[in-house]
Amino acid sequence: MSKMPPVRPLPDVSMNPTTPTPPQAAFAPAAQQAQASARGRFITFEGIDGAGKSSQIAAVVALLQAARVDVDQTREPGGTALGERLRELLLHEPMHLETEAMLMFAARREHLAARIEPALAAGRWVVCDRFSDATFAYQVGGRGLDRDKFDALEAWVHPGMQPDLTLVFDLDPAVAAARVASTGVDPDRFEREQRDFFVRVRAAYLERAERAPERMCVIDADRAPEVIRAEIERIVRERFFS
Ligand SMILES: Nc1ncnc2c1ncn2[C@@H]1O[C@H](COP(=O)(O)OP(=O)(O)O)[C@@H](O)[C@H]1O
Ligand SMILES: [Mg+2]
Repeated sequence: MSKMPPVRPLPDVSMNPTTPTPPQAAFAPAAQQAQASARGRFITFEGIDGAGKSSQIAAVVALLQAARVDVDQTREPGGTALGERLRELLLHEPMHLETEAMLMFAARREHLAARIEPALAAGRWVVCDRFSDATFAYQVGGRGLDRDKFDALEAWVHPGMQPDLTLVFDLDPAVAAARVASTGVDPDRFEREQRDFFVRVRAAYLERAERAPERMCVIDADRAPEVIRAEIERIVRERFFS
């Protein structure tokens, strides 16, 4: 896994993001300086339903806030007023599989335009529960739709833009299903899918992570929450603050 350049801007006029800077002596001041002058960072959480994404996302937000980073926590599908309405449809309304795929990207287009891009441009960091990797994993891997169409949609909706870091929560679908069932919440359209669907989704995530190892970190999600939290904290520190 290659490292991102540190967040601290150089003291001179150069703002070339590929220029290496010295290691940080302190955690908080570096982030504070960065947010005033640089584009924010985009961190996404991925993995099958029940893998533990939502449980860990608050810890990353808290870690960044402790570092005085201005953070916007959001989710997909959703994140905007329109996107949340599309989320309701996507999670609960029966529809053609390609309708589902395009609504995912429609919600994402809105999310990027109305929230993600403005935040990053203003120097805020965005931490998002799912993004395009989920569409590839669920709609291509799980549903079996044609990958080329998704490559085209991705190139249309966010050309040249990817998260700076993606944490992929990897878990046996049987364990994940037991976790989802134990919440007692009515399952949505995706959570109701059979085990083999999630086996394919998981495999698609792992395959995608293998092809982008510098961006995507696979987290063994079959461990105690505090152990996972510590690993994520180490990854975030190494990636952005060292
Ligand atoms: N590491 C873990 N070990 C055991 N249970 C967990 C762990 N992480 C989350 N859970 C539980 O599993 C369920 C699903 O977790 P959640 O964070 O909502 O998953 P996701 O957002 O990936 O669907 C919740 O009831 C949560 O408390
Ligand atoms: Mg969740």
